Amino acid sequence: MGKRSDFERREADFYPTPRAAVVPLIPYLRGIHSFAEPCAGDGALVLHLEGFGLRCVYAGDIRANQDALALDKYGAADAIITNPPYTRDLMHRLIAHFQRILPTWLLLDSDWASTRQAAPFLASCSDIVAIGRVKWIEGSKYTGKDNHAWYRFDIRHKCGPVFHGRDQGAMIPSRRTEVCEQCRKIYQPRRSSSRFCSQNCRQRAHRHKLSVTSSVTPALSVSSELFRYVRHADVVRFTAAGWEPLPALDGTHHGEYSVLMRRRPEPA
Ligand SMILES: C[S@@+](CC[C@H](N)C(=O)[O-])C[C@H]1O[C@@H](n2cnc3c(N)ncnc32)[C@H](O)[C@@H]1O
Repeated sequence: MGKRSDFERREADFYPTPRAAVVPLIPYLRGIHSFAEPCAGDGALVLHLEGFGLRCVYAGDIRANQDALALDKYGAADAIITNPPYTRDLMHRLIAHFQRILPTWLLLDSDWASTRQAAPFLASCSDIVAIGRVKWIEGSKYTGKDNHAWYRFDIRHKCGPVFHGRDQGAMIPSRRTEVCEQCRKIYQPRRSSSRFCSQNCRQRAHRHKLSVTSSVTPALSVSSELFRYVRHADVVRFTAAGWEPLPALDGTHHGEYSVLMRRRPEPA
């Protein structure tokens, strides 16, 4: 909510972020998989970001007795993303605090960048993404009177912001998201062939496949030799029945769950 608003100010500057204000930020979040929201209010921004496949590792708010200034880290997040209170003194203390912890995206009014008070913060501001006016009150016909922007701060950055005008983000290829075949969570694949959100899910899916497809899976049959992928637990039984374990092929390994075994034909 900007300083020229006609609405009565809410306690602790509680103005949930509408989804429309989040959409223009998304193209700029490449490489960000998890985030902390230390001024989370009722969690509106958290929900919008999660809807785009990001994972929230910390959410707190002063109204739940979690003062963002009282913590020096907020879990293993890639970035802090929040719409902070706009009361200037508090907002400035939060910017200084957040940018020392992690790269930080803040939704602020655009005019702030032109003020004298902003000057000390602009060297470590790397990007400003303009989003225009924001409709703060859901269902209202009116937008706020101030233009807004997402500002990125990082204490390691020293040479001021690049300004990204309205809709420029649309030219950045969008983040690709997939649904994990095991747990159905949305995730961002790092490889185009990826099917699972994590190593755990990949292994769980593999284990499940082995347990539903009996203890052996037919493998390639060459001439009259027989080959089978056999679970470790069944290797002894198969060995007793005349099968021999084969070494892993070059560049592969048998994996945790199966061993390739061969049975030669009985002599005639
Ligand atoms: C503009 S609202 C935004 C809420 C939420 N970030 C969102 O985008 O939907 C600002 C929030 O900051 C919280 N807040 C104010 N001072 C705080 C502090 N020192 N530590 C943590 N939260 C604070 C307020 O209670 C309020 O919920």
